[in-house]
Amino acid sequence: MTSQFSKKNEAWSARFSEPVSELVKRYTASVFFDKRLALFDIEASLAHADMLCIQGIICEQDFNDIQRGMAQIRREIECGKFEWQLDLEDVHLNIEARLTLLIGNAGKRLHTGRSRNDQVATDIRLWLRSEIDHIGILLNNLQLALLDLATQHSSTVLPGFTHLQVAQPVTFGHHLLAYVEMFSRDAERMIDIRRRVNRLPLGAAALAGTSYPIDRERVARTLGFDEVCSNSLDAVSDRDFAIEFCAAAAIVMTHISRFSEELVLWMSPCIGFIDLADRFCTGSSIMPQKKNPDVPEIARGKTGRVNGHLIALLTLMKSQPLAYNKDNQEDKEPLFDTVDTVVDTLRIFADMVSGISVHVEAMRNAALQGFSTATDLADYLVKKGMPFRDAHEIVAYSVRICSERGIDIADLSLEELQAFSPLIGNDIFSLLTLEGIIESRKHIGGTAPTQVKYAIATAREKLSKKPPY
Ligand code: ARG
Repeated sequence: MTSQFSKKNEAWSARFSEPVSELVKRYTASVFFDKRLALFDIEASLAHADMLCIQGIICEQDFNDIQRGMAQIRREIECGKFEWQLDLEDVHLNIEARLTLLIGNAGKRLHTGRSRNDQVATDIRLWLRSEIDHIGILLNNLQLALLDLATQHSSTVLPGFTHLQVAQPVTFGHHLLAYVEMFSRDAERMIDIRRRVNRLPLGAAALAGTSYPIDRERVARTLGFDEVCSNSLDAVSDRDFAIEFCAAAAIVMTHISRFSEELVLWMSPCIGFIDLADRFCTGSSIMPQKKNPDVPEIARGKTGRVNGHLIALLTLMKSQPLAYNKDNQEDKEPLFDTVDTVVDTLRIFADMVSGISVHVEAMRNAALQGFSTATDLADYLVKKGMPFRDAHEIVAYSVRICSERGIDIADLSLEELQAFSPLIGNDIFSLLTLEGIIESRKHIGGTAPTQVKYAIATAREKLSKKPPY
């Protein structure tokens, strides 16, 4: 297929006396990754052409031809027949050249009053907006899977840890709800970022706007943008919307990675709190007993590449003078890979969470070790009138004695306990049970099963409401 631009096969080559080398062509081209934006490029071109027609900048016949040509190009792309050419550098020039081949002069008029600079910025924003909406749904699905598991385990007790040392007993439902909170803030961040993504650069042209009587508000309405970018230099050059998206994506992956770390630990036979379904694990080629939690491990690893993409975009932007520079072409691969990684990860995790089997007894046994009831004994003494610091000291001492004897505080007799403090009465034994301890934390945000059930209902209610876009 020959290009429609010029004999030299490039959109701008009349200005040049020699062609670029094959290596330079490959080095500067983006078509093999930005072709991913093709359908958004067509959508934006049609909105632009519609406006050109309404404003009398192109005639109706031209607009009809452009619509017809674009419909065919869309079909060719969708069925994989479109021939992408390196010679035509990027997605924009490839589509425009094909359009001109199909419809002639009307194709050459499409680019009136616009530049690839505002075109590409528009395409990325359209594409990212739809990916953000997709990620919002996937974050909701993951939260629903966590809520289902939390519902089954609103009273299952496991040790809560600080410093990875047994701290105080908590319910497993409560533990899972912590992740629901994290992913719900991630979804909020996506909604917030979407507002700034959803602004229209088209009309900024190369950098300074255009002398044609364009109607940017009309294009914005056609494409579903909330507003137009209000400075042409800024519109074509800044990629802060992509940077903040990558920052939010890095936080999503950070939450995923923390969860992954826990899943890996919980599945270790030394802890044995859970099992992941076989379809998320692999075996070892040498050790027949192994069942490795590969999915959480690889997700933990992939967090690194998403963090890397954020740094790549920040670095890409930091020294660019106004306005557009070719550097910006490098925004796409990090952005695409960030989206792909987050989307795949969230999809897999929702499925994986629904396949978690919980070993309730192992969790309970672990909570019975490590003196997880010590704080509650101190609180008991405080409620009987002792200052907290003194109570802390007495209980610390009793833990030391018990640990030397290899027993738990609850294994001591009343007389032995009273040797630590005469304030201790018979009522201590019911309080020092795991159930007593978790039941007592029944305030908002606490770990008591009643609170967990309440928090689950609140979270479900929140998720059932459509996001505000
Ligand atoms: N492929 C380019 C990019 O992704 C499109 C804009 C090119 N603009 C230019 N002045 N060379 O940024």
